[in-house]
Formats: sequence, C-alpha cells, structure tokens
Amino acid sequence: MTPRERIVAWLRTAGAPLSGEELARRLGCSRAAVWKQIGVLRGLGYRIEARRALGYALARVPDRLGPAELEPHLTGRWRDVRWLAETDSTQRVARELARAGAPEGTVVIAEAQTAGRGRLGRTWHSPRGVNLYCSIVLRPALPPAAVPQVALVAGAAVAAALAATPGVEPRIKWPNDVLIDGRKVAGVLTEMEAEVERVHHVILGIGVNLNASRSAFPPELRERATSVLLATGHRVDRAAVTARLLAALEARYGRFLEGGFEVVRSEWESYSCLTGTEVRVTSPDGEVAGRVAGLDADGALRLTRPDGTTARIVAGEVTLRG
Ligand code: BTN
Repeated sequence: MTPRERIVAWLRTAGAPLSGEELARRLGCSRAAVWKQIGVLRGLGYRIEARRALGYALARVPDRLGPAELEPHLTGRWRDVRWLAETDSTQRVARELARAGAPEGTVVIAEAQTAGRGRLGRTWHSPRGVNLYCSIVLRPALPPAAVPQVALVAGAAVAAALAATPGVEPRIKWPNDVLIDGRKVAGVLTEMEAEVERVHHVILGIGVNLNASRSAFPPELRERATSVLLATGHRVDRAAVTARLLAALEARYGRFLEGGFEVVRSEWESYSCLTGTEVRVTSPDGEVAGRVAGLDADGALRLTRPDGTTARIVAGEVTLRG
C-alpha cells in the first residue's frame, strides 16, 4: 500500500481521530508530509475532517475500488490490488504483470475500460465508476485443457457472491454467464499463456454490472443485460461486493486445485438455469440440439439428443429453444 492508502486504512480502523503526529510516526515522515498527503486525499474525494486537539477523522470514502477502499473488506490472501482510473482492458494490464512475474492472486481493477473484452471476440461495455471490472493473475499447476474449468469455478464464485445480496437470485448459463431474471449481469473471460503441457499463467477476467442504471447500457444491450441496481432497485457497496467476490473465488479456486472440478460441480449445478431445458449449442464442431442433463465431472455440458444418445459439449454457445 502507498502512504496515502495506509493513512486511509488507519483512519478507517482507528475508531477515533488520529493526530498528525501519530500518523507521521507510523509513516516515518514529518507532520508536514502527512498534511500534504491529507490534502491530496481530499482532492481525491475523501472527506477528512481535522478536529482540533484530536486529529484527523475520516468522514466519507469515495465510491471507488482502490486498495484503500477494498482493504477493510478483504478477508482472503489476495490483497495485491492494482487500481486504475481507466485502462483499455484489465486483461491486457494483468497479462503484462503476469509476464513480468506477478504472483498468483495479483488483482487488477479499473473504474472504466475503453476496450473491455468479452468472450468470442465481443466487447464488454464498461462505463465508469458503476460496475466491477477486474482481472486476476492465476498460476494453476494444470494442463491447458483443464483451464476452462477455472472459468466455471469463477462463475460459481460470482453467483455465490451475488446471492449474498438481498433480493438477488443469480443463475448461471453454461459455461459462465451469470444472469438475474434471465438477463446477463456478469461474465467471465479466461485467457492463458501455456506450453503444450504446462500453463504459464491464466488471466481470469470478471465483469459484474453492479450500479449501472438503464441509461448506462447502450440501447442494444438494454433487453439482454441487467445490473444489481436494476434488478433490486438498490445500489450496492461496490467495495464490499468486490471483496466478497474475491474471497468467494479464492476459496473455490483453492478447493478446485486440491480436489478437481468435482468439488465445485454441485454448487455450480445448483445455480444452473439450463438443467432440464431444451437447448441448441453452436460449437466449433457444429450444432447440437438436446435436453441439458447436467455437467460432467470435468465441466463439459451433457446433452441428451432426441434419439436418446448423449453429447458432451466442451466449448460453445448455448441458446434456449423456445
Ligand atoms: C463475457 O463475454 O461474458 C466475458 C466478459 C468479461 C469482462 C471482463 S471486465 C474485466 C476484464 N477485462 C476485460 O477486458 N474483460 C474482462
């Protein structure tokens, strides 16, 4: 954490004002240097009151997903959060960090993306300051063929984190679209660099629409996309939801690495909106139609074709047959 982030964290947890002298002692700098940092923080939107003879007190924290805002909510081990006011895509930033050796659990978060990327070459609409856009560096000791399971694990974590919000009943549409009331609220994108048998790193990208209003979506998305705000009528504390999501993900990812996808499968299936429905899947191998029977132990979608035979789908796009 930077000195400014540390000041915010101390003021948040102190429960009482902290004197300039105390902050200077903790930071190992002068009181004048503390005063200067307080000025910068105020400029960034923090309301810091100076109470005579007592010291500084934090009156309001800006709605931002920086390390200082997340810190009080974080419960897991993934705490290296790199925050950006704006970037093209957090996937690109995280990939560069991974190539430079960033460890597993490094998190990149942006308030806005100018070229947010979705699955299958699509764009991810990323308006400023209302949603969550994050990419996490992972270094799983897995064969490349098992990496799509990481995305399924992430889908379950997103659903579990959103389900903790009152009034939200998330569903997952295979492989990892998260929906509320049939509209997409979150998406997961995994990108990896690997050799034939060894994964160098996976960049796990997650976008969650949190406080986006209807007008924040372009007209062509308004029928298909939603946000937690639109679904419940209430804004969420973005920092709290983000921290909950990171904790949910870290826990499930750890269990998955130890026990395989099997240990996450039943939870994933409990959120699935497809089981028992008639679908059509467009995959690199062509089109298959059938009734969804469930998920295999490796995360493949199992379909029962009209002739009773079973198809295993490992990649593709699912559409519901009306
Ligand atoms: C999907 O198509 O469903 C996946 C969407 C993934 C979007 C996230 S937002 C953070 C990260 N950065 C990106 O450019 N994309 C992912």
